[in-house]
Amino acid sequence: MANDTPLRLLGGLSAAEFLRDVWQRRPLLIRGAFPDFQCPLEPDELAGLACEEGVESRLVEEHGADGPWQVSHGPFDEATFARLPERDWTLLVQAVDHYVPEVAELLDHFTFLPRWRLDDIMISYAPPGGSVGPHVDQYDVFLLQGSGRRRWQLGGKVPDEAPIIAGIDLRILEHFAVEPGDDWVLEPGDMLYLPPGWAHHGVSQSDDCLTLSVGFRAPSADEAITSFADYLGEQLPPSRRYADPGMAPPADPGELDDAAIARMRRLILDTLDDPAQLAQWFGRVMTQPKYVDQLVSRETATPVEDLVAALQDGEELRRSPGSRFAWHALDATRATLFADGDGIECPLPLARALAADTPLDAELLPLPGAAELLAGLLDAGSLYWACDEEE
Ligand code: SIN
Ligand code: CO
Repeated sequence: MANDTPLRLLGGLSAAEFLRDVWQRRPLLIRGAFPDFQCPLEPDELAGLACEEGVESRLVEEHGADGPWQVSHGPFDEATFARLPERDWTLLVQAVDHYVPEVAELLDHFTFLPRWRLDDIMISYAPPGGSVGPHVDQYDVFLLQGSGRRRWQLGGKVPDEAPIIAGIDLRILEHFAVEPGDDWVLEPGDMLYLPPGWAHHGVSQSDDCLTLSVGFRAPSADEAITSFADYLGEQLPPSRRYADPGMAPPADPGELDDAAIARMRRLILDTLDDPAQLAQWFGRVMTQPKYVDQLVSRETATPVEDLVAALQDGEELRRSPGSRFAWHALDATRATLFADGDGIECPLPLARALAADTPLDAELLPLPGAAELLAGLLDAGSLYWACDEEE
């Protein structure tokens, strides 16, 4: 797909136009983004997922038994759903793309963004009146209406310190004023893109309201600095420290003077300013799995010759749902393949193939190091044999 092809999904904008003018800048309503959209999930199936151990889910009740805007966390049981009123509640299930392949397939439409920016596809179900209240997310999100109708209202961009209602488990804005014109009812296949920091409020208008949130995360400066400093710190020799050879005698021995501050600043900035280490750290954090325990490693290492024989017999490997891959070139021929928080140096074409949708079959074997790499990823749980897939 050329970057200048107009896309229905982006309301007739090309990927390049969307990224230049809309992404991270302003909301965009796209009517009929997915024409004749058939939601890959029914409300009952979503409720079923929310009853499973290990699936992250929340229930928001606007008029809860224990107070307004009550939040409870799954797994739930049938009794929970049986006691819920006719309206004004929402069930939200995270990472449905990990469990329902037809939901994961929707991600194929979002390749105009780097895959490592993706968080997950969350799906919510709400009877009429159900919402999570007006709020702000630090998150880019494409809100795709799956079935039924939801009214979305936007309240403009709000500052970090906008007051939120105290004493409840949800971050709901104390003040929410709808911007003129930013008030729409979305039908199945309609989609609303929201950049981080925009106040929004979505209320179900029907019995079958399912909304899919395709969410993209970005690490905060707070998380990034702490995490990069930790990563680098493990590799720094103890001799690298504050040093002050040749300093002038202090005017006052009690003073922490500007020259000392400048030396400390140089130490920190020079140590952090290491693009090669930064690439290694960034690839690792951005490919960390969302749920680490979903990554099931093998107890015994796969012999490389067994893996080669199986591939030559026509077996195929698949990427595990929820596994994350990315690559970064080291030079013209070598790259680091990042897989589920790990970094592995390998030939560039191999890293590229692993981080793409390329089938993982015998055709990869001629690439040097392919068999060893695949065996390692299989043992780590990032790959699995297609023939082991549950029916
Ligand atoms: C919802 O699906 O009800 C909420 C999604 C959001 O506002 O981020
Ligand atoms: Co939101």
